[in-house]
Amino acid sequence: MTNSNVEKTNTDLSSDQAWPWWPLLPLYPYGRRRTLFKELIRDQVWSLEQLQGLYYVAVPVRLTVVKVDGGLMLFNPLPPTRELLRELDNLQEKHGPVLSIVLPTASGLEHKISLPALTRSFPKAEVWVCPGQWSFPISLPLSWLGIPRRRTRILLEDGVPHKESCEWLPLGPLDIGLGRFQEVACFHTNSKSLLVTDALVGIESQPPALFDLDPTPLLFHARERGDQPLVDSVSARRKGWARLVLFASFLKPANLSIPSIPEILRNSFKPGLRNSRSHFGLYPFSWQKGWEDSAKELIGERTPLLQVAPVLERLVFPRAKEVLIQWFDELISIKRMKWLISAHHSAPIRFTPNQVRDLKSKLLKRPWADSKGNWGFLDGVDKRLLKRGVVPQDPLKSFRD
Ligand SMILES: [Fe+2]
Repeated sequence: MTNSNVEKTNTDLSSDQAWPWWPLLPLYPYGRRRTLFKELIRDQVWSLEQLQGLYYVAVPVRLTVVKVDGGLMLFNPLPPTRELLRELDNLQEKHGPVLSIVLPTASGLEHKISLPALTRSFPKAEVWVCPGQWSFPISLPLSWLGIPRRRTRILLEDGVPHKESCEWLPLGPLDIGLGRFQEVACFHTNSKSLLVTDALVGIESQPPALFDLDPTPLLFHARERGDQPLVDSVSARRKGWARLVLFASFLKPANLSIPSIPEILRNSFKPGLRNSRSHFGLYPFSWQKGWEDSAKELIGERTPLLQVAPVLERLVFPRAKEVLIQWFDELISIKRMKWLISAHHSAPIRFTPNQVRDLKSKLLKRPWADSKGNWGFLDGVDKRLLKRGVVPQDPLKSFRD
């Protein structure tokens, strides 16, 4: 291939991955979203993943495509780049048209933001959204947010889609001050899979395949100082991934300190690192001894470790553990359940009623919404919001009254 052909192919690819609406929620990798397509369960469930994050703290976000009677259901929206739409076209050719688009969360901004654009790509699809949608700083009606009111229905309030093959299981609602937390999980009977958004995740030590396309975020965080080059190796990728998991789980893990500004500047702008990829050597992190042990508590070595994400436990459910436990009890009653497919991290992961029972008993035995160690930062956020009256002491009160 000639150089001009290589250039042309790269240009075509980057325009296929373009996401012009990125300034609405300016997350890495901004205007260019690569998409990774995978078949998760043969002829039944597929995954489309893109990276989203801040300052190279990027984790994959998944749109799940499910075979339903007469066509396909899209669960958890993603930006409809040309690359993503091409994969969906291939599936439509074989399995029928996209019949419905489901936004199953009330609060997950990273899942909501692309719904309007995705609905425009499928003008005939029904749109279903979780009850209690809200926007910040002011709450706007759905149509003002670009969601087509005429073909949009509210899950549970207006019924549910695809009753013949899906069972819908709400978690929440909870009052989280700015709005509500709720997500509606879907048990897809043909694939024996539970589809969720943020409620549960399974994390493994192998970095997600999406980083194979560009491992920069992993290599950036695998370093100790800003004057170190970004060097690619299997161990650097795994180290970077473990640190990203800690960031995404605790926002500021206990074993992470922020160096002083003079120290950050001393290690920056070194030769070979004066480029935007290395953030010009600016690296405001200093990892302390013991961070690996913290990561091991979140990451399964051989199989994904099933868990309630710490951010969810400490900021959404700190005073409402019983709501989560009740939801687990509903899941335990689904005898045929075999797989979990969430919007983040590994999928599908083994998920039987016995595994839910084990998780429930572990959560009941250990301290809930802890304030020590890695939980310290999230605990501080929750306490400040509580003190200022931003979040209520009783998150269920407004739904009881
Ligand atoms: Fe999410």
